Amino acid sequence: MNAPAKALNQGVAPVTYGVGDRPPRGDYASAASDYTCAQRWAQYTPEQHALYARLHQRQTAQLPGLACEEFIQAVQQLGSADQVPRFDDVNERLYPATRWQIVAVPGLIPEEAFFALLAKRKFPVTEWLRKPEEFDYVVEPDVFHDLYGHVPLLFNPVFADYMQAYGEGGLKASRLDACELLARLYWYTVEFGLIVTPRGLRAYGAGILSSAGELRHSVRSAEPRRVAFDLKRLMRTRYKIDSFQSTYFVIDAFEQLFDATAPDFTPIYAEVRAEAEIGAGTVLPGELEFAVG
Ligand code: PHE
Ligand code: CO
Repeated sequence: MNAPAKALNQGVAPVTYGVGDRPPRGDYASAASDYTCAQRWAQYTPEQHALYARLHQRQTAQLPGLACEEFIQAVQQLGSADQVPRFDDVNERLYPATRWQIVAVPGLIPEEAFFALLAKRKFPVTEWLRKPEEFDYVVEPDVFHDLYGHVPLLFNPVFADYMQAYGEGGLKASRLDACELLARLYWYTVEFGLIVTPRGLRAYGAGILSSAGELRHSVRSAEPRRVAFDLKRLMRTRYKIDSFQSTYFVIDAFEQLFDATAPDFTPIYAEVRAEAEIGAGTVLPGELEFAVG
């Protein structure tokens, strides 16, 4: 269901758990009831460490001018660029910074389990690494997408709090049958968010930052639409899972994300449901678009 262009970007995958026609990849037998497992670090082969290092190197070379500064600074906190990091080692730096921890999971997990972990400031990171033939494209999130894409911003205090709030909001959305709308928020911020800075547009979304091609596309290409973050507008907007995004939502600060999502979503879900959906790539009349630098 994914084309190479989108490669690693199944970050919202817990939402689609069970919907696909094949079970998720991963060793679920060894996972605990909350879906966490041990990172069996000794089982990564030298070839896998080398593959991780190549992925790390390819992405890191592209970050300047395209990734937000918060991400660039924090990537170094992941430690070893030449092998799959040990999660315990990352946690020694992450926990003191923002009281977040990463936990290993076998792969995609059900959305409620995912929300519950985020609400406890635990970010699930897939244990397995893609195969060499999946260097440019992997259908489900692997350890590279989860770790390299998502963990750097967990070092940012405001973004870290947003992620916890999202987890709590997810548990609530499950009760309100609103996970589909909430998933759009995750998709268009945590996975594919752009931020405007004094030096121009930059990416902060993990799906972009772990993708070989979408990083430049999202920040520089004239093709996609880029509109200001607006919660209700965003929740009305469908997204693509099999190509680069055709719409990106732009925030001006992580505080904006946190503040805009603080209100009770119960009435917001109702309002959004009452309005028409907006197709990916559609710009509404009068809507301003960000210019690419
Ligand atoms: N304020 C949201 C609610 O009441 C929860 C939430 C916070 C959701 C942050 C997403 C992100 O449901
Ligand atoms: Co993701």
